Formats: sequence, structure tokens, C-alpha cells
Amino acid sequence: MKFITVDTYAELSRKAANIIAAQIISKPYCLLGLATGSTPIGTYDNLTKMYEEGDLDFSTVTSVNLDEYIGLDGSNDQSYRWFMNHHLFDRVNIDKAKTFVPGGTVADLAAEGAAYDARIKELGGIDLQLLGIGLDGHIGFNEPDTFFTGETHVVDLHPSTIEANARFFNDISEVPTKAITMGMAAIMQAKKVLLVANGPKKKEIVEKAFFGPITPEVPASILQLHPDLTIIFSEQE
Ligand code: PGA
Repeated sequence: MKFITVDTYAELSRKAANIIAAQIISKPYCLLGLATGSTPIGTYDNLTKMYEEGDLDFSTVTSVNLDEYIGLDGSNDQSYRWFMNHHLFDRVNIDKAKTFVPGGTVADLAAEGAAYDARIKELGGIDLQLLGIGLDGHIGFNEPDTFFTGETHVVDLHPSTIEANARFFNDISEVPTKAITMGMAAIMQAKKVLLVANGPKKKEIVEKAFFGPITPEVPASILQLHPDLTIIFSEQE
């Protein structure tokens, strides 16, 4: 595990973008695992800038996102498909047909999960997985539980997650209570994992996850077993 502490969010974003850019440059036909949430936004801004300056080419990149709210389709501006289009995909030369987000409005969510895992396998597995971390230790939407779940699956969001995500909605009652998320197998099988955590409010959970016991009560703690894990933690928000 490589634990990098930086002072500012700007530095976190620059460093994370440099690591992702290095992945794309060293393996142009790569599969990137991407994340939503407020923390990766600066990373996506930096990647966009590199593209605009002619230093980065996304035309051969394929991506899979971690998760999606149940009940929101891609035209909803709270959906994670919309987030990815808005913060990255519409700003760079990635082929949208090669960007995948789990479907939150499909009738058969179990089949959707199985198909999502099969697709990741067919694509040769994830080269680099970007992750945020929730205040309760979730990665993707793998919430604290009594066991780790391997496959892409449907979850009930924890009250603390719903509360944390309410800031993006008009009212907490609008926050979906369920999501579909990539499970631990695809995340742990990624060749590299890059986790970004921003500011003092994440300090306690970061310490628990990476310097405490490995337990499904703190889902991110499983990453301690990953052979190529980089964490970038910013002291200031
Ligand atoms: P945040 O969310 O980046 O908005 O803090 C992280 C997460 O919940 O995974």
C-alpha cells in the first residue's frame, strides 16, 4: 500500500489525474474503473485539461463505472451516468459506446449485475480502478455488512450515505434508497487501485479502513489485501 498525504484538494486532484494519465499512456487500450462523488471531480477536470492540451487521448479507452442509483435513468441529472457524461465523457474524446455504467432502471437487476460482471471479464478485467470512500467506509456502494459481496449486486443504502448524498438533491426524500454496485471481486481483481479521500472529515474512516482490522463492517478495509493500492489523502478540503 502506498499512502500519499497531500495538503490540498488541488494537489490530490493533480496527482490522481497524473496516475490515470500514466495508465492511459502506458496502455492506450485500457479498461478504467471510474467513480462518482464529489472527490473525483477535480481529477476529471485535470484529465480534461490534459486532453484539451493534446497530452491525453481517450479514443482507445473503455470504462466501467462502479454504481448507479436504482430508479434513475441517464437523463436524470442525479444519475451517475449523467454525472460521468457531464464531468468527463462529454469533455474528452472517449467513445461513449465504450463507457459502461450499471443500469439502474432495468427490470431484471440480478441479470444486469451478472451481465456487468461478465462484461468486465470479457474486457480482460479492470486495469486501474478509481475509488472514493464513504464516511461509513463504503467503496462503490458496498455498504458495511456482516460479509463481503463479490458480484455486482443491489444494495440498500445506509442512512448515513443517504444523508451524505442529500446535499446533491433538493430534499433528502428525493435520494434513492437503493443502488446497484460493482462488488468486491471486480474491484479486488483490478490490476491497480487508486483511492482518493478529501479533507478532515474523511480522516477517521481512512485510518480505520487502512490501519485497522480487515472487516466487512468497514468495506474499504479489504483493500489492504490488494497488491497495488495507492491512497491519496488530502489534509485540507
Ligand atoms: P464523496 O463520496 O467523494 O462525495 O465524499 C465518496 C463516496 O461516497 O464514495
